Amino acid sequence: MRVDVSLVPGEVAVKDMSNAAVVVIDVLRASSTVATALSNSCEEVIPAESIEEAIAIASGYARPDYVLGGERRGLAVDGFDLGNSPGEYSEARVSRRKVILATTNGTRAVKQYGGAREIVIACFLNAEAVLHMLATAGDRDVLLLCAGQDGRFSIEDALCAGLYASELSRLSEASLSDSARAAAAIYGDCRGSIEDALIESDHGMYLASIGFLDDVRYCARQSVLDVVPKVYDRRVIRKARLGTGES
Ligand code: MLT
Repeated sequence: MRVDVSLVPGEVAVKDMSNAAVVVIDVLRASSTVATALSNSCEEVIPAESIEEAIAIASGYARPDYVLGGERRGLAVDGFDLGNSPGEYSEARVSRRKVILATTNGTRAVKQYGGAREIVIACFLNAEAVLHMLATAGDRDVLLLCAGQDGRFSIEDALCAGLYASELSRLSEASLSDSARAAAAIYGDCRGSIEDALIESDHGMYLASIGFLDDVRYCARQSVLDVVPKVYDRRVIRKARLGTGES
């Protein structure tokens, strides 16, 4: 197994994804929100590239069957049911409903990688579950895609990619590309202080400034959600549970 990392979204155009499991990482906060919603029994998450697309998708469903969520500049979109705060995606709000989600970088990233053999969504919260799936699902490469922020590098995504790269190297003796080694080195430096690193990140500080410090702390927690969000037919579904095989 070869593990590669795209540290900024623009790199993806030059990567070969035909034999790869693509792992989309947007720690703050889209990946964390998707993992939380699926863990709280939402039926599926439908990612949208824009506010308009989310509204158009919602128009195809009956009102009780979905919740419409998303953000612009970290704040809930006018007229939407929920923002992009993982804590909002409680069982009471999302259980047995579709979540239609439009975020600035994360859901766009999910929609861009249609050519991949397999696409999963990862963050710190579901690290153990996703790593277990990647390490045991047969011989193919892994491409860790950092969603970043408006096309720029985000340290929280690189740290998370570094966790996955170093664990895959340990669990599956995967070989690491230069960018995967760089991400693993960054993670190695910060592994004892991930919460601080997220709080000090550009987007972490921005989220704290608009009242979402608790989200940043929550998104730094590791392996607390036993869920593998997997993209299937442009929807994200809950794929597997640790120890119970596919579900
Ligand atoms: C995004 O997709 O850009 C983010 O998840 C932004 C946010 O923190 O809500």
